[in-house]
This record gives sequence, structure tokens and C-alpha cells, in this order.
Amino acid sequence: MQKFAGAAEWVPARGGLPKLEAALPDCRGCDLWQDAEQVVPGGGPAKARMMLVGEQPGDVEDKAGEAFVGPAGRLLDKALEAAGIDRTEVYVTNAVKHFRFERRGKRRIHKTPAVGHIVACSPWLRRELEIVEPALVVVLGATAARSLLGTGFKVTEHRGRPTELPDGTAAVATVHPSAVVRSDEYRRDFGLFVDDLRAAAALLT
Ligand code: URA
Ligand code: SF4
Repeated sequence: MQKFAGAAEWVPARGGLPKLEAALPDCRGCDLWQDAEQVVPGGGPAKARMMLVGEQPGDVEDKAGEAFVGPAGRLLDKALEAAGIDRTEVYVTNAVKHFRFERRGKRRIHKTPAVGHIVACSPWLRRELEIVEPALVVVLGATAARSLLGTGFKVTEHRGRPTELPDGTAAVATVHPSAVVRSDEYRRDFGLFVDDLRAAAALLT
């Protein structure tokens, strides 16, 4: 595993989300800041009861500076709506705050963050959890699961079922919305994704 210094020294120990967001652009906790356009903070109400955690910003998010506003974000919006969850009431963020990619000609192709990047960036996510104190965390895909639930956790085996973060916070893991976007069996996989989000929402009532 490639080792990085990690984000800890840039993460403010006190203050709320505005202070956290103001500190993010200075982070040099791993090498991903170098090629990305900008850092992408989480977004949503500071006291949201539900927090959704994705992988990392994509191409569109890297340019916009906002989480889940590209194709995966559109799918997530649709699925949340189908599950009866109001996106304006949830806090949405990523396990890794900079876009990792490979250049192929003019295109920037998504590259999955390495465990070293996930570990390096985790102090930001931990601080978001401390500030927002969600009643429930929805873990979107393998990268978020690696960050929050450890490398042994298999999303496909546990999806849609109640689980817990190491600190005891209630959580539900499901697939990443990008996997649904790319699916050959879109209708089935969209339905399963909505089922998982519904199961998560039901834990809050
Ligand atoms: N995929 C993610 O995991 N997060 C985003 O913000 C966009 C795409
Ligand atoms: Fe810092 Fe995370 Fe960006 Fe790495 S990916 S530079 S740890 S904010």
C-alpha cells in the first residue's frame, strides 16, 4: 500500500461545516490534489439525520466543485425520489475528496482510489461524521465501505441490511450509483438500489 501523510493535520479539530469546508482546499494529505481541478466538499444540512457516502468526485464534480452532480448524481436523485427520501434533507459526501483519474487523450478516465488514498482522506470523513452526527449512514459502494467498515466488508453480501460503523452509528451499505448507471440490467439494478435506500429510510422512522 502506498503510504501518504494523511489529512489529519489539515482537519480543524473544532468548528462546524463552514470551517471544515474552508480548510479543505489546503489539504496535501495525499497526492490527489495535484492533478484535480479542485477539492469537492460534502453538502447538505449540518444536522441531517441521514448521511450518504460515495467514493470520490467524478469528472463533472471535479469541474463543478460539488458532490454527486454528474451522471451518478442524477441517478442518485432519481433513486432517492423513488425511495421517498428528500435529497435536500440528506448530507451527501465522499470517502475521498479529490478526483483520481487517468488521461486518455482528451478524456479523463475515473480511477478507483487506492487504499492509501482512502486512509489518507478518512480524517475529513470522520470529522464530517462528528459534526453532522447522522442517525444513519448510507454507504455507497466498495470504496465507502472500505473507508467506513473495513476491507473485509462485502457490499454484495450485506447490501440493504442494517449494520453498524465501528463507533456504533447505524448504517446500511448498498452499491454505488455509478454501477447502476453502467448496468446491463438497468431496471433490475435500479429497483434493487431503490429497495436498499427504502430499507435505510425505514430505519429512521
Ligand atoms: N461518484 C461519487 O462517488 N461521488 C460523486 O460525487 C460523484 C460520483
Ligand atoms: Fe487531502 Fe483527501 Fe485530497 Fe488527498 S484526496 S489531498 S487526503 S482532501
